[in-house]
Amino acid sequence: MKQLKLGYALCGSFCTLAESIGALEELKKEGYDLYPIMSEITYATDTRFGRAQDFRRQVEEICGREILHTVDQVEPIGPKGYLDLLVVSPCTGNTLSKIASGITDSSVTMSVKAQLRNQKPVVLALATNDALSGSAKSLGTVLNTRGIYLVPLGQDDPVHKPTSMMADFSQLGAAVRAALEGRQLQPLLVVR
Ligand SMILES: Cc1cc2nc3c(=O)[nH]c(=O)nc-3n(C[C@H](O)[C@H](O)[C@H](O)COP(=O)(O)O)c2cc1C
Repeated sequence: MKQLKLGYALCGSFCTLAESIGALEELKKEGYDLYPIMSEITYATDTRFGRAQDFRRQVEEICGREILHTVDQVEPIGPKGYLDLLVVSPCTGNTLSKIASGITDSSVTMSVKAQLRNQKPVVLALATNDALSGSAKSLGTVLNTRGIYLVPLGQDDPVHKPTSMMADFSQLGAAVRAALEGRQLQPLLVVR
């Protein structure tokens, strides 16, 4: 059977990078051919959640490829059309809102634009504190955008962070399989 080619783009939700890398390992076990992408910020920023070079090394080891991290490196995804599906995991509020607004000024937003132009699926695993405030409008826009699917998500801490939502990364593989069939994995909203 043909090995499916998946782009896997990581944005700067630094507290969820480890969980996302766990989900990436699961995709590797499922036999996908993986093309790693990082936003410029994820590629270069050390935080209290870890050093950029350590995250880069883990991702490159799993995928067996160098990370694409500039607009010009990902641009060929459009004309060459080589990805069957693109995952953005984690997807920040920043990148979500750019996607919803048609802004293409980063490696990740450029990848999404390139993929959608080929009418191929994009799966977003959202993690942002403003999902139910500043980014809510953008979440609504992508829910209503052909070709974009979400990893089921829920409020991760309703008491202390009442507007925050986070994808259930354990459902990422299932969300990818559904999106490859043109379906949104349901239920979309989960209790975390
Ligand atoms: C330590 C740290 C943690 C962050 N966590 C998140 C997060 O979970 N979700 C989010 O939307 N933004 C988060 N941000 C902010 C993003 O990194 C910032 O908006 C950045 O511009 C995102 O760029 P990107 O979308 O191109 O990756 C965090 C920033 C820092 C420094």
